[in-house]
Amino acid sequence: MTGLVRDPYVLRIQAVAKRFGSGRLGCHDISLEIASGEIVAIVGESGSGKTTLLRCLGGHLRPDAGIVEIQDKDCRLRPIWSLQEEQRVALLRSQVGFIHQRPQDGLQMNISAGANIVEPLALAGLRDFSQMRRIAKEWLEYIEIDPGRVDDLPGSFSGGMQQRLQIARGLVKRPRLLLMDEPTSGLDVSVQARILEPIRSSTTLITPTPNCSYRRCCEHERR
Ligand SMILES: Nc1ncnc2c1ncn2[C@@H]1O[C@H](COP(=O)(O)OP(=O)(O)OP(=O)(O)O)[C@@H](O)[C@H]1O
Ligand SMILES: [Mg+2]
Repeated sequence: MTGLVRDPYVLRIQAVAKRFGSGRLGCHDISLEIASGEIVAIVGESGSGKTTLLRCLGGHLRPDAGIVEIQDKDCRLRPIWSLQEEQRVALLRSQVGFIHQRPQDGLQMNISAGANIVEPLALAGLRDFSQMRRIAKEWLEYIEIDPGRVDDLPGSFSGGMQQRLQIARGLVKRPRLLLMDEPTSGLDVSVQARILEPIRSSTTLITPTPNCSYRRCCEHERR
């Protein structure tokens, strides 16, 4: 009898490349592996392709070439761009948290702050409205926003507050893999480290803004 074979990597990518429109290079020939529990930083100058790469990994942008594999719930690597769309969406929804560089790209601007935070849990099957509301308020407190604003729309918050809402939304389901694209741009250094403390319990690929306090958490930097 064969037991369940667990892959040591949560994310493995090979030779990923993406061009846009008339041929502008987004990213080219990127390969890396991230083992369970690792926190890895991708650094590079502006326009070098960090966001493009993360979007290829997070299911937002189909690469032109290469393989992107992410662990499923049974700890097996699955090539996300070879899966049927339904399977890909289900895998990414259940295993991956994604923080966009611009908070508006990661929030639903037409539903409340609280609904934004707990929507990933609702999509995963949570149905208890009062429990969802309690969780939303706890997260608001955690990200240092008045829980009394649970019903406000994201557009009524400042840029830094919107970024904190997006971080709460990305972390709420405790994803196996976190993909974070400059998550702390617009945040005070004093709140960065505390708000990002939960990344220590997820496998994380992050593009740090320069001189960020959480950069100390990163085991590796890749250029
Ligand atoms: N949707 C798009 N359409 C056309 N070109 C794009 C698109 N998105 C990115 N690019 C191009 O791809 C290249 C890499 O951009 P990308 O946003 O990935 O860089 P980045 O490393 O994230 O930069 P920054 O540090 O400023 O966020 C740039 O030349 C950019 O103009
Ligand atoms: Mg970017």
